[in-house]
Amino acid sequence: MTMVTDSSVVPGIGRIGDPGEVEPAEFGHLSEFFDPFLVPFAIDTLRVGGEVWVSRSEVGIDGLFLYVASERFGSIFTLSPAIAEAFSTFHPGASIFSDFPFGPSSEVFGMYRASLDDSPDPHRYSHRVRAAEESDRDDVLGLMRNVHGVVDERWFASLLREGETCFVVDGASELAGTGWVSVAGRSARLHSLTVRPRYRRTGVGTDLWQARVAWARNAGARDVLTEISDHNLPSRAIAEAGGMRRVGEIYRSVRA
Ligand SMILES: CC(C)(COP(=O)(O)OP(=O)(O)OC[C@H]1O[C@@H](n2cnc3c(N)ncnc32)[C@H](O)[C@@H]1OP(=O)(O)O)[C@@H](O)C(=O)NCCC(=O)NCCS
Repeated sequence: MTMVTDSSVVPGIGRIGDPGEVEPAEFGHLSEFFDPFLVPFAIDTLRVGGEVWVSRSEVGIDGLFLYVASERFGSIFTLSPAIAEAFSTFHPGASIFSDFPFGPSSEVFGMYRASLDDSPDPHRYSHRVRAAEESDRDDVLGLMRNVHGVVDERWFASLLREGETCFVVDGASELAGTGWVSVAGRSARLHSLTVRPRYRRTGVGTDLWQARVAWARNAGARDVLTEISDHNLPSRAIAEAGGMRRVGEIYRSVRA
């Protein structure tokens, strides 16, 4: 791997500048939950113009830091508190996900997981859920901005991506809801479930959850995970009703 090392930052930490430099074999065990997704995360971050930093030791990559300046949002993956601490100082004021909390005001996100080995319970859909097409791109982006505010549109350059599917539910004249599912090997991850406020409490979120789990199962995943803020009671209710159980936690912190 060619790395742009910057020893003025921290020895052993360097920046990757191109997706071709992301070599899966070099990634060690960095996360109890996200190991299968780290390579796609890194490539996606580079695709949207973000920063990818790695920490290296003699055993390979032992820390990964992904950062997107437009959203002031980053994620640290490492088992080492010292490496996490080093990465956390790179962008003061940014919102950083990590296995380690930085400071007392961190927001706790529960990690929820379900096994897909058992036969699924039948689900009676209230809405028609469909896989998004490229022509839905502007509507999906509009929905995400309506609910989440600042969203970097480069994440949505393509809705049709290998290993990931975006699902949507149509409303009367606009999209009612959307959500993504990624599959890497035998693991699946649900993310970005979003329902437009006026369509909430009608089962859209539950239907999107069920459709994504069914897709993951058909794609060969044997377990599915998602991260949910402890403040997000609706999402927890949907995940738990779908058989997910809390298996750990991560933190979102803002480094002073
Ligand atoms: C979380 C979210 C997707 C839920 O979507 P939804 O379509 O309203 O969910 P459902 O109608 O399927 O609700 C399913 C169950 O969740 C629970 N629930 C939903 N909203 C709730 C609320 N505001 N308070 C408490 N429980 C709630 C209820 O048990 C509900 O079942 P019920 O309506 O039969 O009582 C939606 O609130 C949303 O988009 N929030 C903002 C974005 C977000 O937080 N996304 C999740 C990121 S992990």
